[in-house]
Amino acid sequence: MSIKLIAAVLLVLGTTAPAFAADDLDALIGESRAAIKGFGASLKAELVAAIEAGGPEHAIGVCNMVAPGIAAARSIEYQGRVGRTSLKRRNPANAPDSWELAVLGDFEARKAAGEDVTAIDHAEIITENGARVFRYMKAIPTAQVCINCHGTDLQPEVAAMIDDLYPTDQARGFSVGDIRGAFTLRRVLEN
Ligand code: HEC
Repeated sequence: MSIKLIAAVLLVLGTTAPAFAADDLDALIGESRAAIKGFGASLKAELVAAIEAGGPEHAIGVCNMVAPGIAAARSIEYQGRVGRTSLKRRNPANAPDSWELAVLGDFEARKAAGEDVTAIDHAEIITENGARVFRYMKAIPTAQVCINCHGTDLQPEVAAMIDDLYPTDQARGFSVGDIRGAFTLRRVLEN
């Protein structure tokens, strides 16, 4: 998706007011799962197209430029914040807060206990500074295509680009099946 298209999507979404369930936890979870499906599918489609067009070094631009744009558009649509986080993040802006850190730790424990990574998620309504906040996270498994940029032996030109863009990168050394990170959603509820 081009930056122009993302801007257009943002404009359209910004002027409409989708209805949303105020408080029903099941409804909130259903909505969150749907939002993540859309977010994940958009990212994956962009990634696969970019790798096919110019290899992983070309696709780095997709994750770098397009992922935050898609996240922003999805956030407006969702009426909350939609993002990605990880125990080993590439972009420091994706670092987990304390709630996310605890959930990511729990996800690792659930995986170690034999749970299917593709089905691991967690929802909760918490209180933050007196406000009720719905929070939801879903684990993201590492697939074969991810190894190009999050594995151990990266192509030298890919490694060089990542080093350049993300000097504090921690998101390498992953194997297929590992939990790469999680989608994370947050929406302030009306009290
Ligand atoms: C072409 C290289 C490339 C490929 C392939 C790739 N990523 Fe990334 N990934 C990146 C870059 C670059 C970032 C940093 C994006 C940003 O600045 O927000 C990133 C960030 C992430 C993040 C956000 C947390 C963080 O580390 O900052 C997650 C989660 C993630 N990738 C998962 C995946 C998964 C799952 C796959 C496979 C389906 C994948 N990535 C494939 C390059 C890649």
